Amino acid sequence: MTIETERLRDRVAAELLRTRDRTTLLTEAVDDGDLVAQHSPLMSPLVWDLAHVGNQEELWLVRDVGGREPVRQDIDELYDAFQHARRDRVALPLLNPAEARRYVAQVRDKALDVLGRARLDQGRRLVADGFAFGMIVQHEQQHDETMLATHQLRSGPPVLSASPPPAPSTPVTGEVLVPGGPFTMGTSTEAWALDNERPAHQVVVPAFHIDRAAVTNAQYAAFIDAGGYDDPRWWSTAGWDHRQAAGLVAPAHWQRDGSSFVATTFGRTEPIAADEPVVHVCYYEAAAYAKWAGKRLPTEAEWEKAARFDPATGRSRRFPWGDASPSPSQANLGQQHLRPAAAGAFPDGASPLGVHQLIGDVWEWTSSDFHGYPGFAPFPYREYSEVFFGPGYKVLRGGSFGTDGSAVRGTFRNWDYPIRRQIFSGFRCARDA
Ligand SMILES: [Fe+2]
Repeated sequence: MTIETERLRDRVAAELLRTRDRTTLLTEAVDDGDLVAQHSPLMSPLVWDLAHVGNQEELWLVRDVGGREPVRQDIDELYDAFQHARRDRVALPLLNPAEARRYVAQVRDKALDVLGRARLDQGRRLVADGFAFGMIVQHEQQHDETMLATHQLRSGPPVLSASPPPAPSTPVTGEVLVPGGPFTMGTSTEAWALDNERPAHQVVVPAFHIDRAAVTNAQYAAFIDAGGYDDPRWWSTAGWDHRQAAGLVAPAHWQRDGSSFVATTFGRTEPIAADEPVVHVCYYEAAAYAKWAGKRLPTEAEWEKAARFDPATGRSRRFPWGDASPSPSQANLGQQHLRPAAAGAFPDGASPLGVHQLIGDVWEWTSSDFHGYPGFAPFPYREYSEVFFGPGYKVLRGGSFGTDGSAVRGTFRNWDYPIRRQIFSGFRCARDA
């Protein structure tokens, strides 16, 4: 047993505990009635997410990696995301809040025991470099972000609080030219990268311009005031159909207030912050704004090249700022703040080309459908990503203020339907060079 293996074990244990603290915060901020309620047909009851996190941990760490006896095999079906749509989960005979808390604690005890004995330095690919544990950490963090989105959709007085994000320390406007040519997209070396981020491969991207910052509330409000929602010229056919059918007139949670707008954020209604990134827009809204602005959304490859490509070395970095994992001065991540920050608030996190806040703040819509990279192989199971490949989903990149640093990196790919906006989604624009 090497020192590195023991360090990895300690790091995994710390990540599991840190992640559970966040889950606990999100589920103890409301009472039992709120935990079992359906706050939106788009979301599960919070108590489902809680027990589902425990069930996945049981399936992968306790049963598969540990080879232990099931804790609660009888509930597997209830917490299988492929068996029941989110809107239907409230009607299932779910564990109640006290039972769910007991269950996840019981599973965690066993998982930590499995971790203490697992051979992280050899043997099965699932366990090598702690992958299965990293997958479970990321899974719980992803559900924490989902639960945070549920908090945004619930009504009632505020129950979450956090300090405001830092103010900008440098002005960030305009765009940068990303030089044309090949770059390395995806990864074959990132230990906890998921199957859809693999393998690393060369992609030739023609030169393009990309905005140094995400589109702001003020910029987006100008699109609304210019009649952008009433002019089909800016919308794709599918986008216009959706805009009409859903009656879209502004981002989710916005309301007209005289000549401006107010937005409700985790139960607090305030005037929109002019220089913060717009959030809770769907893909169709993002694409319509970009067209109105004489630009377009970046492709996924363009986004990743802007985030990772270092023109000095030709290398692709793990993050815009380099290879080190995110620090609080580099990105607005992990629910440290309950809103995105204005451009210029994280100058330490800029890319070599001077593109800011690609990681954190808001998930950024790209124009790309979700597909496997050349040489893709499902791991550890098809349902992780492969079943979602196809034209139905658009890729989002970079994570939001609600994404944990363990669950995002320069290669990380998120995907959702182009109509969705309950997620913390914004965008930045690009154009051909
Ligand atoms: Fe899940």
